[in-house]
Amino acid sequence: MKRVASGILPVVAVDRTISTPLHRQIYDGFRSAILEGRLRPGQRIPSTRVLAAEIRVSRFPVLNAYAQLLAEGYLESRVGAGTVISSSLPEQLTSSRPSRTKTILAKHGPRPVAARSSRLPLKETFPWMIHWGAFRVGQVAFDQFPHQTWSSLVARRCRGMNAYSAHYGTVMGNESLRRTIADYLKVARSVRCEPEQVMVVNGSQQALEITARVLLDPGTRVWIEEPCYRLAHDVFKLNGSELVPVPVDEEGLDVAAGITKCRKASAAFVSPSHQFPLGVTMSASRRLQLIEWAQSSGAWIIEDDYDSEYRYESQPIASLQGLDPNSRVIYIGTFSKVLFPSLRLGYIVVPPDLVDRFLVTRRVMDLGAPTFHQEVLADFIEEGHFERHIRRMRTLYGDLRRLLVDNLCEQLEKTLAPVGDEAGMHLTVMLHTRHRDEEVALRAVGQKLSLWPLSRLYLSRPRQGFILGFGGTTAKDIPLAVHRLRTLLDSD
Ligand SMILES: Cc1ncc(COP(=O)(O)O)c(C=O)c1O
Repeated sequence: MKRVASGILPVVAVDRTISTPLHRQIYDGFRSAILEGRLRPGQRIPSTRVLAAEIRVSRFPVLNAYAQLLAEGYLESRVGAGTVISSSLPEQLTSSRPSRTKTILAKHGPRPVAARSSRLPLKETFPWMIHWGAFRVGQVAFDQFPHQTWSSLVARRCRGMNAYSAHYGTVMGNESLRRTIADYLKVARSVRCEPEQVMVVNGSQQALEITARVLLDPGTRVWIEEPCYRLAHDVFKLNGSELVPVPVDEEGLDVAAGITKCRKASAAFVSPSHQFPLGVTMSASRRLQLIEWAQSSGAWIIEDDYDSEYRYESQPIASLQGLDPNSRVIYIGTFSKVLFPSLRLGYIVVPPDLVDRFLVTRRVMDLGAPTFHQEVLADFIEEGHFERHIRRMRTLYGDLRRLLVDNLCEQLEKTLAPVGDEAGMHLTVMLHTRHRDEEVALRAVGQKLSLWPLSRLYLSRPRQGFILGFGGTTAKDIPLAVHRLRTLLDSD
């Protein structure tokens, strides 16, 4: 039930059905009324007793709110006059006229920001990502996640919390987690690494950001795959790098083309195990060529190994990092695909001589990833749940991928063709027809389909197609979703 103070209506309203404490509701009511100019400097407010009676709460929350407002300078006590709105608040803070900022903006246009932060467009939209529909990229089969196990590990860690675990963690990450990651990567991904080289990060996105800050001065040139993972492109762009798009063919990044375009680049960003978005695997000869180029030109290789656990026709492909004898690879992995993206945990394997540089850079960014879920994750891996989960999901996603390919071949053979290896959680399809992918993706939103248009991932000469995430689309929904896609393409 909402109660309002009649004397100063509608300044203070308390609602007992919401979780916000009463003193906070009273404080918020006064504060916004003062800032919006509804209460004027010098204006008297009711005594705590009167207000408490009026809004039918005890005096404690009112006393509490007044004390806070007095401490912050919104109210002042005057002898003989009780409590009044502070007369020393700046005019523009309390004015109900359009804000000064709005006036300045209207007169002079947008205010300048650092050139670096203007390098990304402000109003770019991705409507196909706003609504939840079939084929949403990056979505995992969360209904298959071992919730019970995870919850009991969370509860156990919660119960065991103490002053030590509640304090700041280490910048590089939880030690047990780093050890388990190093053990896992050595065996499963043939990565050369010791736990000291592993830095736990808030997803591979942060790994890219740290890497760019440590290794790439503004203006340095970076090879990126064409087409490229959009959020990697954005990190390098925001960092001030000049992007050099290097074509990807059925053998992965075309290293010779990169050398012809820009031999002197400072770094190459690659996803060799399962190129995003085209899904191809980089051949051994291209890997060696890339490693040789990096060594001879003093460049870094940034390897994004985001979903390599999922290969359905062969064993997972060993990492590129493991092939490099020169420690020129920054290896990046994530738990977003194998567990779930909101966990925001990933890792970097840093070359030994760069560990301290990465550490000091990371320290100023956020002092390290939140510790609680690192501990839970370390338990999850150490107790064997991680491996078991990957094995189960590999079977499930393999089945979903086959089902999707079969349905596309049956229903849309003449319109589009799947590309890439039997791997991962997305399938890219090329359009054979004159359809424009972005236009179709926009219309698809109304059909509960989340199609990511391939053309948006090219810097030049875009090809038309869609990236179809199948991780979060069930076996029951796949035939129906493909049917909706067919109807949509037929109706164009
Ligand atoms: C190519 C690629 N790299 C990395 C990621 C994961 O990013 P993060 O770890 O920041 O969730 C994704 C997720 O969709 C991806 O597609």
